[in-house]
Amino acid sequence: MSLSLSAAPASAPAEAADGVWLECIECGETYAPFEEVRYTCGECGGLLEVRYAEPPTFAEFSGEGVWRYAETLPLDAGVSVREGATPLYEVPRLEESVDLEALRIKHEGMNPTGSFKDRGMTVGVAVARELGVDRLACASTGNTSAALAAYGARAGMETLVLLPAGKVAAGKVGQAALHDARILEVDGNFDACLDVVRELADRGEVYLLNSLNPFRLEGQKTIGLEILEEFRDDYGAWPDRIVLPVGNAGNTSALYKAFRELVQAGALEPDEVPKLTGAQAAGAAPMVEAVENGSEEIRRWEDVETRATAIRIGNPVNAPKALPGIRETGGTAVAVTDDEITAAQRELAREGIGVEPASAASLAGLRKLREDGVVAADERVACLTTGHLLKDPDAAAAAGNEPEPVPADTDGVLAHLAGD
Ligand code: F0G
Repeated sequence: MSLSLSAAPASAPAEAADGVWLECIECGETYAPFEEVRYTCGECGGLLEVRYAEPPTFAEFSGEGVWRYAETLPLDAGVSVREGATPLYEVPRLEESVDLEALRIKHEGMNPTGSFKDRGMTVGVAVARELGVDRLACASTGNTSAALAAYGARAGMETLVLLPAGKVAAGKVGQAALHDARILEVDGNFDACLDVVRELADRGEVYLLNSLNPFRLEGQKTIGLEILEEFRDDYGAWPDRIVLPVGNAGNTSALYKAFRELVQAGALEPDEVPKLTGAQAAGAAPMVEAVENGSEEIRRWEDVETRATAIRIGNPVNAPKALPGIRETGGTAVAVTDDEITAAQRELAREGIGVEPASAASLAGLRKLREDGVVAADERVACLTTGHLLKDPDAAAAAGNEPEPVPADTDGVLAHLAGD
């Protein structure tokens, strides 16, 4: 099984360029990485992965940010606005209230455009340039569009983004607009937007930069690599578990791939790999359904709804890569309500960590799994928060304190504070 933790490193096929090639996760067909535009297998339609003849060990990493991990990436350099190197925060009060040996928050909202998508785009847009394409596109619940617009602008390339009309948070639309993307508002949900943009890509009209693009996931592997190195340096130990919000399951797939490559390089034992644990909103939880049913297949949810609009997704395209990751690492998936998400968003904010609603699903899910005894008190856990609070100012205002009108004089303000 090619996605098994114990799979041996592959030897490079004739198509490989500098020890890098694309391989179908279903049938094993191999392709040259940069000669033609390709997102899925030409033989069976399966998802593709980037493969390396020699996965690197920790000793080969140097520098800071995503490109510290260039040895794990298909190119030596990207289209960059200094992505990665995000903080891993201590949260002593939360650690105590969730009741864990250690809890850290990896805040991906601290990337240049405010989400983890930048890690994928620095690689994906560089590959687009290598391939010589001229128009970039993505479907998005918002963050992918903001990142693609910024990296497309950086590369001087034309960018189209397809957004579900009325369902994208204000900060994200503003970013895509100002970074000069053409914004196509689609009368349908994210999954419908992705169907359209995949068709545009298949017809050769655009280069697709959704997480279906295997190069983007390479950049997102660096989240996992940073977490491992930071835990090792702070604790002298790896984390037992990583909890992350799940939409298309791109990050789940990417983190699993990062760890598999370290196992293949002999840098990590299979039983040292953190348990990958996904959290979804209850109104958009097809991955949770598949994990609970022990199913290899995903059932597409047609009607999805959640306040966490970033993960309002009913058809996680990377499920065939992510489900083996959850299973092989001994992880799980959990659904949380919108109210649990908002409560977790508030808890994080009260530790000084500002995240958008989807991001808080990880903490909400962790709390639930700890209460249910699925997560043990002696675990060291990293929770991923994927996007910044300012992405969704309306949700922040709704979840936070009400502004209080006061008169424009000091005595009046003091009287108000005294409750008079
Ligand atoms: N968290 C945030 C803030 C997101 O924007 C997304 C996905 C996810 C989590 C889910 O990550 O797909 O790797 O499981 N946002 C995409 C977008 C769909 O268009 O911005 P995943």
